[in-house]
Amino acid sequence: MQPVHMPGVYKHQQKLFTENLTECKGVKVYNEQLRTVKGKEFRSWNPYRSKLAAALLNGIQAPPIKQDSAILYLGAATGTTVSHLSDIACGGILYAIEFSPVAVKHLVTAMNKRINVVPVLADANHPDRYAAIVSSVDFLYQDISQRNQADIFVHNAQQYLKPGRRGIIMVKARSIDVSITPKQAYQHVIDHLKEQGLKIIEVIELSPYEKDHAAILVSI
Ligand SMILES: C[S@@+](CC[C@H](N)C(=O)[O-])C[C@H]1O[C@@H](n2cnc3c(N)ncnc32)[C@H](O)[C@@H]1O
Repeated sequence: MQPVHMPGVYKHQQKLFTENLTECKGVKVYNEQLRTVKGKEFRSWNPYRSKLAAALLNGIQAPPIKQDSAILYLGAATGTTVSHLSDIACGGILYAIEFSPVAVKHLVTAMNKRINVVPVLADANHPDRYAAIVSSVDFLYQDISQRNQADIFVHNAQQYLKPGRRGIIMVKARSIDVSITPKQAYQHVIDHLKEQGLKIIEVIELSPYEKDHAAILVSI
């Protein structure tokens, strides 16, 4: 098991892994593979199920996430990627925003033993509505396939991201505009983020793991 990309992420036989939280030993979140090496348990990180794993395998710069980072995650769904970030930021906190009540019900159950994850049933279009729960964060992650996804990211970054910190927005080209090419859709999002004062650090496409998706790494 070799450390790669950033602290808390490992590679073995071309697959990525994160180290499972001690209190979650033996617990799977999405039927991932568990491997024990020298008393530590590692969870395989599937790039076909998690766009962050896809972006890392495709060579994106390591996001500056540390063990004690505070993370705001928009579009948590049932917790696949959330669970790996929870492994990485094992001594930090991760606010997981999701607006589907059905998904949040699964999320709460799946994150039951993960004391660093705070599931929040809320619409990311209205960051004010979770201001009583969420404090300022070191990293912002968004995976929301909505036409106005760039706006959602900007508003949350302006409200919650600490100055100089970074975030990743996962862009699904087809949810921006089906009449333009994926590259044009990514450019549309990039232009909007720049207009709103965010700096673009890197853009990485996610194929072959996700078709017509890109990860955009930004700083505020
Ligand atoms: C592609 S899925 C996320 C997958 C997840 N990030 C993962 O890797 O495990 C997108 C999620 O965003 C949620 N979503 C869409 N619009 C939202 C909004 N305005 N606020 C909060 N969640 C939203 C959807 O309900 C869905 O669960």
